[in-house]
Amino acid sequence: MKTSPLTLRNKFCMKNLLFFLLVILQLPISAQKFEGLAQTPPMGWNSWNQFGCRVNEQLIKEMADAMASSGMKDAGYEYIVIDDCWQINRNESGEIVADPKLFPSGIKALADYIHSKGLKLGIYSDGGVSTCAGRPGSRGYEFQDARSYASWGVDYLKYDWCYSEGQNAEASYRLMRDALFKAERPIVFSMCEWGSTQPWSWGKDIAHLWRTTGDISDCWNCESNWGSLGVMQILDLQVKLRTYSGPGHWNDPDMLEVGNDGLNLTESHAHFGLWCLLSAPLMAGNDLRNMSKDIIEILTNKEVIAINNDPLGRQALKYMDYGDLEIWLKPLKNGDFAIGILNRGDEKIKFDQTLQLTTYDTDFKPDSYTYRIDGNFEIRDLWNHKNLGSTKENFKIEIEGHDLILLRLSRL
Ligand code: GLA
Repeated sequence: MKTSPLTLRNKFCMKNLLFFLLVILQLPISAQKFEGLAQTPPMGWNSWNQFGCRVNEQLIKEMADAMASSGMKDAGYEYIVIDDCWQINRNESGEIVADPKLFPSGIKALADYIHSKGLKLGIYSDGGVSTCAGRPGSRGYEFQDARSYASWGVDYLKYDWCYSEGQNAEASYRLMRDALFKAERPIVFSMCEWGSTQPWSWGKDIAHLWRTTGDISDCWNCESNWGSLGVMQILDLQVKLRTYSGPGHWNDPDMLEVGNDGLNLTESHAHFGLWCLLSAPLMAGNDLRNMSKDIIEILTNKEVIAINNDPLGRQALKYMDYGDLEIWLKPLKNGDFAIGILNRGDEKIKFDQTLQLTTYDTDFKPDSYTYRIDGNFEIRDLWNHKNLGSTKENFKIEIEGHDLILLRLSRL
């Protein structure tokens, strides 16, 4: 039988279509981080600063309960993150095993409990062979661990960098990102590489946040011999990083020490306000079950949190440095500004200055901006929820040592 040219052409098209479909189906879905999970800086609680290795399932459940009952959940906190020491070994199939003495019901049951409270569960691992506390790390087990986390219902992974000698940071973090993506459960990916290889310069497509420094400790101005840093030391290291941070990819100056013993109330106050100006992730690091009214007020101050959560997501600029006195400026989406006036020193400072500020912000090259606060801005004190006049007159205030005045300026 003779085949007509038309039938021949149809056969040719069908063959091509089939080939095309096969190619498409066989192409691996290229890995990426899960987008849209951290359009504003993540907020939650992490066990490390207050409890170190003393974690267990009862404690974690109680933190979830306290997050809900203290008003923190209503203020926007959602992640309960178990840091180091929840894991004990690997089973014969290589799966990571939670310490059965500390977590007898297992991580899945804990995730279910946390989800039932309308909160999310975070967990911790390390890109090297061991975690910093010597528990099994994920090196060589990335895909298997990511599958375990996904099957347990984990929502957030903090991924540390101890015992990673000889490894390339970017490649190691990319590998875990790919493993998480392959496991198909959206998980916020928090890199904890301490800023050693400038993760801000390569981390944007890999993670939602990256630590910029060594560990924070609960002191205002200090540096320990093992490298932990006080609030002021960490603040100074953020100044040059502001252009790297934005919606979906945040600089992380480490978890909060608000409410921990080494900071007094004024310092806790200033630390929280500064982290909000920096668009930092807000991970409380205190015991949520025993908070004073004052500490709850700091952690749940919605007007202050709104500065942190502002959708523009722009980290504050150090506008002026007069030694102990600093002025920080954070542009906000609706054209408002947040201003922080910081007294780093011990003595009270009398501030009497215009807040009609103008600065040419060249950090955002090539789209540099001029920020101009002239004329009619209303000044609002965000700690005390009070309006304090307008920018037409000098702004006068006394600032205690180690305090931060936090203002929102709105065009009248
Ligand atoms: C490192 C991290 C800390 C904490 C500990 C846990 O030091 O930077 O935030 O996770 O490890 O061992």
